[in-house]
Amino acid sequence: EKGNFRHFMAKEMHEQPEVVAHTLAHYLDMANETVQLPELPFDFARLERVSIAACGTAYYAGLVAKYWFERFARLPVEIDVASEFRYREAPLPANGLSIVISQSGETADTLASLRYARQEGQHLLAVVNVPTSTIAREADVVLPTLAGPEIGVASTKAFTCQLATLAALAVAAGRARGALSTEEERSLVHALVEVPRLMNEALSLGGDIEHLARSFAKTQDVLYLGRGTSFPLALEGALKLKEISYIHAEGYAAGELKHGPIALIDEKMPVVVIAPHDAVFEKTMSNMQEVAARGGRIILLTDTSGAQKASLETEATLVLPDMHPLVAPLVYAIPIQLLAYHTAVVMGTDVDQPRNLAKSVTVE
Ligand code: F6R
Repeated sequence: EKGNFRHFMAKEMHEQPEVVAHTLAHYLDMANETVQLPELPFDFARLERVSIAACGTAYYAGLVAKYWFERFARLPVEIDVASEFRYREAPLPANGLSIVISQSGETADTLASLRYARQEGQHLLAVVNVPTSTIAREADVVLPTLAGPEIGVASTKAFTCQLATLAALAVAAGRARGALSTEEERSLVHALVEVPRLMNEALSLGGDIEHLARSFAKTQDVLYLGRGTSFPLALEGALKLKEISYIHAEGYAAGELKHGPIALIDEKMPVVVIAPHDAVFEKTMSNMQEVAARGGRIILLTDTSGAQKASLETEATLVLPDMHPLVAPLVYAIPIQLLAYHTAVVMGTDVDQPRNLAKSVTVE
């Protein structure tokens, strides 16, 4: 049931503070500020490499997790879209972990990737939302996302619950590998505990975003830029907008701008810059400067500190509270979803059932 919401997607976006809290409570010991995962059939300290395979939005969750595993656990990660991973016959290390991520647990390419990894002798871990699914049954260990049923075709709450689960896993890996001190683990867990409150603040940007959506609905193309973990968010923002509003959008690593996409900049195409005030903020600002110098329309998504430091004129600046860099992807997902949603509503498309798309892709 949609309750008071016009669409399932709206309902599911607004459920995020609650379902993410639920998922985090499952993986964290809040009182002691430590991670608390179910027993794993492998030892993180002895792993050589992680390979991640997934599709679409779940793949973007995996891309964010790559940054986390490398930073917090000093664990090398390779990641592919499952349709490539399953056929490219990648050699996998003797003590390797394969992670697949899927809302439905039935995506054909993701399932085939899991089976390939089994053949290659990997440990198999699945992050899945449907606990009775094929992928959940075939993995050695399942970390469930507790998003509840997701009806809207465009994934929202499943994505942020995947991120919550993967963040807990990366912190657990960091602890097991001796890459994080007790103090560091505590501060990361503390940051995660803050996420539901931050998500509520992000949802309160809805009115401003609705306003912005009126001009978005008139454009042909949108570019999304971000660095670090905001790069996968840029990809996710572009995917969400394409899926439900049918407006062409592309996500790019901000540093790639001058290697091609800068040629697209004109006074018509909005450029959404995702830039929390983190270690790469200044770098992203200089890319934003390049857009401004060519008369581009800038929509800046940042935090209080970032808004103070950004000296450029923008068409709109959406400001979130300052937060720990670990949790930014979970919180920044919300304005990105809202922007796609409100644009689609203005366009009058079928938000919950966009054309040509199916909720679960069980054929390749
Ligand atoms: C995007 C979307 C798709 C799915 C992808 C994977 O909004 O819904 O890109 O994320 O088809 O599906 P699952 O997670 O079920 O494997």
